[in-house]
Amino acid sequence: MRLPEPGTIQIAPSVLSADFARLADEIKVIESAGLVIVHLDVMDGHFVPNITLGPPVIKWIRKCTDLVLDCHLMISDPEKYVEAFVKAGADHVTFHIEATDRPEQMVETIHGLGCTAGICLNPETPVSAIETVAPLCDMILVMTVHPGFGGQSFIQEAAQKIEPIRRLVGPQVRIQVDGGIDPTTTPRVVGLGADTLVAGHAIFGQKDRLAAIKAIQDASA
Ligand code: DX5
Ligand code: ZN
Repeated sequence: MRLPEPGTIQIAPSVLSADFARLADEIKVIESAGLVIVHLDVMDGHFVPNITLGPPVIKWIRKCTDLVLDCHLMISDPEKYVEAFVKAGADHVTFHIEATDRPEQMVETIHGLGCTAGICLNPETPVSAIETVAPLCDMILVMTVHPGFGGQSFIQEAAQKIEPIRRLVGPQVRIQVDGGIDPTTTPRVVGLGADTLVAGHAIFGQKDRLAAIKAIQDASA
């Protein structure tokens, strides 16, 4: 599956806050809401102070869904592991600008493996750090929390980078926001130019996942 063409707002639920013992069911809920992207947070305990999932889990997720598997690599040395994630079934691979010296080469590698590519920047990283690589990417990921954990509070100042990034990449590149997205922060990031909304706690932290998705959709309209 490919990322939807830019020009539509997409919600990409992050299963980080889902019930991992019932992951297939949680993914079915995303499908039944009519969403097309699932956001998979990969953490290595080195680039970020938490450990989550790797290629073996993604391989099993791939077998149970046709959703776009959007892999957010919060790992050191992403060049060493990118092929394993693609072989496991990733459709889109995002890596951090803070984790590599050769971002342009990484984008080329990801494209060469048949996936779309994303670059991500942490809250304290300036837009200038991605100036060269951003136009080569299919999606830019703006962190609005410090990566590592779900359920943190939205950092307003980090969201301010959405506007200059939109000017830099134009309308043909998706801008994804990740961290603290819920029905109250959604209008703000959409107003600034974001079109892809990652939400973890705001969906899987709620009893009624479908109602939670609908509330974010309503807030983005
Ligand atoms: C944080 C992850 C996020 C996280 C978002 O490091 O990259 O994708 O799951 O979670 P919420 O929506 O709960 O802030
Ligand atoms: Zn993420």
